[in-house]
Amino acid sequence: MERPVFSVLSWVVLVVLVEQLGAAWLPGTLRVNEKGVLLFPQLCKFCDVLPSDCNSSSTTCQAGCDITSICESVKEVCVSVWHTDGGNVTVETLCHNPARPIYGVLLDDYNNTQCLMKQYKGLGPDYYMCSCNNEECNENLIFIPGLETPKEPFDYFKKVLISLVAVLVLALVIIALVYLLWINSIRQRPLKSKHPGHGSGDTRAILHDVDNSENSLNHNTELLPIQLDGVVGKGRFAEVHRAKLTNASVGGTNVPFQMVAVKIFPGVEFASWKTEHQIFLDAELRHENVLHFLTAEERRTENQYWLITAYHPKGNLQDYLRNHLLTWEQMHRLGSSLTRGVAHLHSDQTPCGRPKVAIAHRDLKSTNVLVKDDLTCCLCDFGLSLRLDSTMSVDELANSGQVGTARYMAPEVLESRINLENIESFKQMDVYAMALVLWEIVSRCIAIGDVKEYELPFGKLRDHPCVESMKDSVIRDRERPEIPSSWTNHPGINTLCGTIVECWDQDPEARLTAHCVSERFNDLQDLDQNSLNFSPEQKIQND
Ligand code: ADE
Repeated sequence: MERPVFSVLSWVVLVVLVEQLGAAWLPGTLRVNEKGVLLFPQLCKFCDVLPSDCNSSSTTCQAGCDITSICESVKEVCVSVWHTDGGNVTVETLCHNPARPIYGVLLDDYNNTQCLMKQYKGLGPDYYMCSCNNEECNENLIFIPGLETPKEPFDYFKKVLISLVAVLVLALVIIALVYLLWINSIRQRPLKSKHPGHGSGDTRAILHDVDNSENSLNHNTELLPIQLDGVVGKGRFAEVHRAKLTNASVGGTNVPFQMVAVKIFPGVEFASWKTEHQIFLDAELRHENVLHFLTAEERRTENQYWLITAYHPKGNLQDYLRNHLLTWEQMHRLGSSLTRGVAHLHSDQTPCGRPKVAIAHRDLKSTNVLVKDDLTCCLCDFGLSLRLDSTMSVDELANSGQVGTARYMAPEVLESRINLENIESFKQMDVYAMALVLWEIVSRCIAIGDVKEYELPFGKLRDHPCVESMKDSVIRDRERPEIPSSWTNHPGINTLCGTIVECWDQDPEARLTAHCVSERFNDLQDLDQNSLNFSPEQKIQND
């Protein structure tokens, strides 16, 4: 709705000039059509808004505008807008390009030769508009009763908005459909692929086949062919059985069975099964020093919940230490792999740098560490573990309570004085327990000199000391497992014992991180081999 740039008089002068000088001189407002005919912009009434006594119930009336203007562009037509605010009536006359909205609506009557007033109900009951393409045609306004926009006129922007919303909804529907199809395809993936009998070989291969979704739960119809073969461990909530997984395949060759471990939770311990299962479901937990998880099963008929994992015939670390002496190398292998396992658990990224959730074990002890065939350790029993999500509230952390085994509880746990504001506190508790386990390992290494019978840390206390007696030893008397001076004659053991002492510091903040301890083990490996040469492995019992 721009003001015309020329008056009628100046237009006449221009036309004369065009005739004299030819079409090459044409201003931008003139156009020649395809037949070579010169097109002139329309002459319309153009008074903007004027008060009027024109009544919409009369059949015709005059706009009352005495200014005729030449529209700016050949595309523009004449338009009149009749409006009343209840008392006052106004009529607006102007030139307008019908390709553009006026008052939010696109006019469709611009080819008319007369201005037929149409009511635009979407703008309110008191709006009439007309457009026409004839000289001064917007002066004479013709009201035809019943001539109105058939439905609420769509506002230009509304149209655009509705189109956008429609496209968005369509895109969302497509994404949802693709997602559902994908989920469905995962659900329907045959269990076969998880079954070692169809896999490429060892237990690790099976593990890589088991996906990490909720899908790693076998429902009743798809239970693995497993034969239980005797109890190998008893925990707080469950029993661990050695078991045969039949129709297995090792290194691509079919074998009658493969050994696995099955942790069986009775129905009432569903919550513990679920906690441990959830921890195992995190793909990024996979590490050579963390027990390999195969799958979880709900055995409805027996009212049991199973966790199926790799089986390690050497059993737990405590039993192994009880029955074996260690060379420096073996001690180093067990100790360093234990710290690597804890460091991985605590880390918020994998060795390849992918993000992972840090986990606190909260029940580290020598019976919750397994010895693998290559004499490295792997951590097990994640029933009390905690995901150290940054989203965990202090309340949630506080509700997790004083957990673990009293003998291995750090002083701040025994006292229930944990700094819940800081997730590092949970790692510091684990480091304390890890130090006790490292002490157990060192105590069985021939490099310390005179090796005694295996003894638990704080071994003079009774079998299952309660929190109160642990408080007396660890807090009141500040006791720690003994490190005799004779041990420190060996330079490697001396360094290691220094590290252990730093890890069981009374002050949790002063303790080393598991990652740091693991690096100290690496440094020890580089020590002059001559200074570490000791007699070969002694065994008090064959494997
Ligand atoms: N004791 C507990 N879990 C075990 C496992 N996976 N292998 C051997 N002994 C175990």
